[in-house]
Amino acid sequence: MIGIVVGIAVLWDKMVLTQEKINSNKIVTFPFPTNKEISFQGDFILVNKDSEVNVYSSRCTHLGCKINQHSNNQLLCPCHGSTFGLDGIPTKGPAVLPLKKMKFEIDKLSDMITITT
Ligand code: FES
Repeated sequence: MIGIVVGIAVLWDKMVLTQEKINSNKIVTFPFPTNKEISFQGDFILVNKDSEVNVYSSRCTHLGCKINQHSNNQLLCPCHGSTFGLDGIPTKGPAVLPLKKMKFEIDKLSDMITITT
């Protein structure tokens, strides 16, 4: 009987934690690097090119390594060699899916960027 109660308690706890994870949006705010065309900011890649800003997840869509380098307008995954254009589209595999595009806002007065995950 105690085992059943403990089992139900564990399942309930997992259900609550899962629901909290689904409902939680992470909001990250930091200074927008206005002078850089490509900027790696932890979990994000900021591309500021041709008067257009895009923000992508830095997680490679192959197996999730953090993309942290660029060369010749290509974002480079250090793990298995995938490359992505500055539009987030893969240009060389093994990754086949584009980088996740993030929602963001830039406060022009303070030059702060807020990214919602
Ligand atoms: S994780 Fe990026 S290429 Fe494999």
